Amino acid sequence: MEKAIEVKGLQKSYKQLHVLKGVDFEVEKGSIFALLGSNGAGKTTIVRILTTLLKSDGGTATVNGFDIAAKPDYVRQSISLTGQFAAVDEILTGRENLIMIARLRHLKYPRHVADDLLNRFDLTDAADRRVSTYSGGMRRRLDIAMSLVGKPQLIFLDEPTTGLDPEGRVEVWK
Ligand SMILES: Nc1ncnc2c1ncn2[C@@H]1O[C@H](COP(=O)(O)OP(=O)(O)O)[C@@H](O)[C@H]1O
Ligand SMILES: [Mg+2]
Repeated sequence: MEKAIEVKGLQKSYKQLHVLKGVDFEVEKGSIFALLGSNGAGKTTIVRILTTLLKSDGGTATVNGFDIAAKPDYVRQSISLTGQFAAVDEILTGRENLIMIARLRHLKYPRHVADDLLNRFDLTDAADRRVSTYSGGMRRRLDIAMSLVGKPQLIFLDEPTTGLDPEGRVEVWK
C-alpha cells in the first residue's frame, strides 16, 4: 500500500495539557480519510503538525513520503490546507485570489487555472467582484477552489463548513 500519511507515536502538549499522547495512523494514497473526535480532542493540532504549521513534541510523521521535521518545504509543496476560517483576500476579486495562488505555486497559465476553477465551483458570474461582497458559502467555495490550484497530491480540510448555515453547507459539500 502506498501511503499518503504515516503517523507514529505523535505527541503534543500545550504546557500542562497533554493533547496528543502517542497517535498512530496511516492513510492510503487515493483515499478519503476522516478524523473524528469531540471538540478539543486534538484534530486541529494533528492537522497543524502534518501541514508543518506546528512542531510536535515527539513521534514521527511523513506526508507524501516526506518527513515533516526534515523536509517541511517538500511537504508544503505537495499539500494544501483549508482551515476552519476562510483564508481568502477580501479586497481582491475571486479571480484575483485564484491567480495569486497559481502564481505562488509557479504555474504556467494562472489565468487559465483560475477560469477552470471558477467554472467548476460555480463562481464565474461573481469572478470579478470583490470577495467582501460574497456570501459565506461562496467564500468557502472559493477557499476550497484555491486549495485545488496546482493539483496538490494531498488536501487537508479542517471543518470547512463551520459557521455556515444549512444551505451554505449543502452548497459547499456539492
Ligand atoms: N495554542 C494553544 N495553546 C493552548 N492550548 C491549546 C492551543 N491550541 C489548542 N489547545 C487546546 O488543545 C486541545 C485540542 O485542541 P484542538 O486540536 O483545536 O482540538 P479539535 O480540533 O479536535 O477541536 C483543546 O483543549 C484546546 O483548547
Ligand atoms: Mg478543530
